[in-house]
Amino acid sequence: MGAMTPTDLTTTGGPATRSLLARAAAGERLARPPVWFMRQAGRSLPEYRTLRLGTSMLQACRTPDLVTEITLQPVRRHGVDAAIFFSDIVVPLVAVGLEIEIVPGTGPVVARPVRTAADVAAVRRLEEADVADIAVSVRQLVAELGDIPLIGFAGAPYTLASYLIEGGPSKEHARTKALMYSEPAVWHALLARLAEISAAFLRVQLDAGASAVQLFDSWAGGLSAADYAEYVLPHSQAVFAALAGYSVPTIHFGVGTGELLDLMRGAGASVVGVDWRVPLDEAARRIGGATPVQGNLDPAVLLADWPVIERSVRRVVEEGRRAPGHIFNLGHGVLPDTDPDVLTRVVELVHSL
Ligand code: CP3
Repeated sequence: MGAMTPTDLTTTGGPATRSLLARAAAGERLARPPVWFMRQAGRSLPEYRTLRLGTSMLQACRTPDLVTEITLQPVRRHGVDAAIFFSDIVVPLVAVGLEIEIVPGTGPVVARPVRTAADVAAVRRLEEADVADIAVSVRQLVAELGDIPLIGFAGAPYTLASYLIEGGPSKEHARTKALMYSEPAVWHALLARLAEISAAFLRVQLDAGASAVQLFDSWAGGLSAADYAEYVLPHSQAVFAALAGYSVPTIHFGVGTGELLDLMRGAGASVVGVDWRVPLDEAARRIGGATPVQGNLDPAVLLADWPVIERSVRRVVEEGRRAPGHIFNLGHGVLPDTDPDVLTRVVELVHSL
């Protein structure tokens, strides 16, 4: 991102464009990194569990006042440098008419898996009107957040496809890969449609004032580099290409992607998210030494004693200083058993470094 003019401030996603998050994502050298946590809003917070009583996950995601309150909870409690929009990667899929439920303790379950050319042809595009409530939630949040940036998000085509093809969560993604290898035309048609849906979902959030977006390809790490390059990368590239008109930070994240990091950088995001398996300085080297990184404390470390946590946080910040820009985060989402006071303490520590 170049120098900002007043016009940019109105066209680049709201008032928080010069936030620490935006500056780190632009590769600026900062005294300390901005910090937020994937899944910072959620089951680790008692106030979240109370608010969610009696409301299903997907119902909560479509209720602007709940979305607003749940998104703000971790900002108030922890003093993080960014809010992540409370939603789910399957929200836009439900919005185009797919029958999906989020089963507590399991994850998204799809009533009729998508596995044939006819199934794929029946998946329609996402229209703005399908998610009018999402725009309402984002606008409400941006007004409440003031200077704090709101990060919008979507699932990447591969991770979304894995749920639709498997019919639910899966470890091996065997059916997903079987379709990919045996029916490449059906595969590419599905991923192309999912890329359109994700891009449309992100544009709705950006048009309503989100200051940054993250594309979650959580399960891409199960693929070889060659398969990722052939079957997945072009579709993730299409998502970022569709956002070319917005000068906002874009983050691309997956789990277990040590061997894919450079290919993922090629998808076109301004920041590459890294899980805990690869140190940030090494990750920065693997992606060519010019792209900022986000991560990468192992979320399980937060269940250890404070001296272990403190040492690990300091190490991540040190390694991040050797990368061309760093946004402090975990290497994946906050685990539900995490003590929220520990998260607050981590934010205070990062802010003090
Ligand atoms: O705080 C945040 O990060 C924002 C909220 C957020 C949720 N889902 C809320 C949620 C985000 C960014 C997501 C993305 C998401 N959803 C991903 C990509 C990120 C990742 O974790 O890799 C994936 C793979 C999903 C699919 C999904 N939805 C899973 C695996 C689960 C967990 C199932 C469970 O119960 O363990 C969900 C449900 C979900 N999404 C919850 C939350 C807070 C838990 C629902 C609850 O509170 O009952």
